[in-house]
Amino acid sequence: MIYIAPSLLSADFSNLESEISKIAQAGAQYLHLDVMDGDFVPNISFGAPVISAIRPCTNLVFDVHLMIREPIRYIKDFAKAGADIITFHLESCQDPRKVIRAIREKEIRCGISISPGTPAELLLPYLSEVDMVLIMTVVPGFGGQALIPSCLEKVRFLRQYADRHGLRLDIEVDGGIKEENVALATEAGANVIVAGSAIFGSRKPRSVIEGMRKAAEAHPYRR
Ligand code: DX5
Ligand code: ZN
Repeated sequence: MIYIAPSLLSADFSNLESEISKIAQAGAQYLHLDVMDGDFVPNISFGAPVISAIRPCTNLVFDVHLMIREPIRYIKDFAKAGADIITFHLESCQDPRKVIRAIREKEIRCGISISPGTPAELLLPYLSEVDMVLIMTVVPGFGGQALIPSCLEKVRFLRQYADRHGLRLDIEVDGGIKEENVALATEAGANVIVAGSAIFGSRKPRSVIEGMRKAAEAHPYRR
């Protein structure tokens, strides 16, 4: 199953409620929420209070992507705000297992992410403990950057590893994904597709989402 996750980072922040209903009507299943602290990444976006304020607007799956240092400090807040999935960065914390445990204790799906400079092998010890890995296909911090194609090799490597070990794993790609290149990601084994500027920047988000889904389904991962 392919899931499309528009990133709110590219929405019109002065009108979040209508932006969210627009992409829900356009056929998205997830809402990707990029939390940035100005420290782990050189940008500040929004935090738990904004997520909690928009929670009543929609039933979309809240896919919270934490780009913050030592996320363990805030898991409780994001759980309370209504996150359905919390993904944190391997590079952002001293003890990833502690973060995984904190997320699981809240009965929230858990994801772990790596930036383009981090080798995929470093995720292997955690794969059986998480529901999802998020492979950054741009350097995290900003929307609207171009996809780094070599990051997709990590997707293929992890998909093959998960298959060989019988692990059920969602693989999410994030950064620079558009209708024209989404097939490269799904062919490599990704099944959760984040797109910010491609969807929120379009006057026809429905046709972008449908186009992405069609391209993804036409180019599935094959072992
Ligand atoms: C980047 C964020 C992404 C970003 C994607 O740090 O994690 O989710 O918003 O935006 P696009 O699709 O425009 O690259
Ligand atoms: Zn993101």
